[in-house]
Amino acid sequence: MSLTDALHWRYAAKRLNGEQVPEETLERIMDAARLAPSSFGLHPWSLVHVRSPELRARLHETAAPQPQVLECSDLLVFAVHDRDFKAQVDDHVAHMARTREVDESSLDGFRNMIKAVMDQKGTHEACLEWAARQAYIGMGVALSAAALEKVDASPMEGFYPETLDEALGLRDKGLKSVVIMALGYRDTERDQGAGRAKVRRAGEDFVVRLP
Ligand SMILES: Cc1cc2nc3c(=O)[nH]c(=O)nc-3n(C[C@H](O)[C@H](O)[C@H](O)COP(=O)(O)O)c2cc1C
Repeated sequence: MSLTDALHWRYAAKRLNGEQVPEETLERIMDAARLAPSSFGLHPWSLVHVRSPELRARLHETAAPQPQVLECSDLLVFAVHDRDFKAQVDDHVAHMARTREVDESSLDGFRNMIKAVMDQKGTHEACLEWAARQAYIGMGVALSAAALEKVDASPMEGFYPETLDEALGLRDKGLKSVVIMALGYRDTERDQGAGRAKVRRAGEDFVVRLP
């Protein structure tokens, strides 16, 4: 199946049938998120995987009251790293030097450039906002990977981030949730959205073509 066909097939399923996504398929979807690009390659976010039905029931009750949370096979939480951003840059540069087997000092220009961009952003909150944009790229890549695997992926912003972070102990891990995604299989009987025509702007209306 081409990516275009997969994107036509997918929709944000509201009701799922509870069937389990095979382990290898789940790993491929999570790995697609890991391989998503990010600004400067900084990758300032992590993926939190929640499977336990008990934990998902608690989230549903307090933080994310949507049926997909209960009916999914797996719940993915895209969470930004809520820690000093310049320290994250230093970690990233050290990682890059190790991976590419180069002297860390050869990356000083790169390090300083990223830190200058952070200075321009001005505040920790602005950096968190920028990190969230990177996490959303990961969400888009994971959602596309799921569609290619014929797994339904329901992205959700309809949750209470602070309550969810509390329930999952994310603050202690230096993480802050920004968006969640339920993975599973559509329940075509109960989902009123199943089979509905996709509503998108037409190509000529969407792409602004300049000479
Ligand atoms: C970032 C984001 C957040 C969303 N949050 C929710 C949500 O909380 N609950 C929900 O039912 N659908 C949610 N959706 C699904 C959208 O409503 C859906 O993608 C949109 O209507 C387009 O329809 P389709 O994806 O089914 O083709 C979200 C989608 C995105 C991309």
